[in-house]
Amino acid sequence: MPTAPPQPPEPTYYYSQLDQIQGADGVWDLDYRLPEVQKYATFKPDDKVIDLGCAEGLITMDIAPKVRHIRGVELRPQRVEAAQQIAAERGIDNISFEVGSVTTLELETRSYDVVLFLGVFQHLSREDKWVSMAKVLSATRRSVILRTPLFHPKNPYRTTRLAELCQQMNFTLTIYPRQETRGGSFMIATRL
Ligand SMILES: C[S@@+](CC[C@H](N)C(=O)[O-])C[C@H]1O[C@@H](n2cnc3c(N)ncnc32)[C@H](O)[C@@H]1O
Repeated sequence: MPTAPPQPPEPTYYYSQLDQIQGADGVWDLDYRLPEVQKYATFKPDDKVIDLGCAEGLITMDIAPKVRHIRGVELRPQRVEAAQQIAAERGIDNISFEVGSVTTLELETRSYDVVLFLGVFQHLSREDKWVSMAKVLSATRRSVILRTPLFHPKNPYRTTRLAELCQQMNFTLTIYPRQETRGGSFMIATRL
């Protein structure tokens, strides 16, 4: 059986390496991702938002001025510390960051207007993926902004399954495909 090529270790600070990991189409950096989130998502001044897997919170901080409150949750403590420090330096006060995992985080039903779930779904184990996705949809009042590869060689039905789950839970799923050299495509699940 062919073995998977060795993967580079996860950097301590995720965004510190973004300039080195541009995709072959040359647009896969933060300058590209931020406008994409803003283009596809609608934020309202009274919104309560959560950003799951926020890394050092650069996208989280960009959205903060548009909403009432945004909460960032991230698995790696060093990234959370960096996010808290940057937010303090920038004087952003409607934001909070904490260490946590989307797999164990308790989320109340319909507790957030918008959930950002960007670049995380694909990293979850097979067991955790669908339970977490259902929990994320359930926690959402309006929309989930998801970024994940549309397909995986071992699971060609990933997007189909996602569409089915959205349908079962009364969401529409809109997909914005891109050439996925890295990071995936944007999808918006909107509550009907
Ligand atoms: C590819 S980065 C994306 C960062 C950011 N959301 C963005 O789009 O730029 C994925 C982040 O999710 C975090 N992560 C991975 N699994 C997680 C989990 N189970 N719960 C919370 N965060 C997780 C990683 O540590 C990493 O910082």
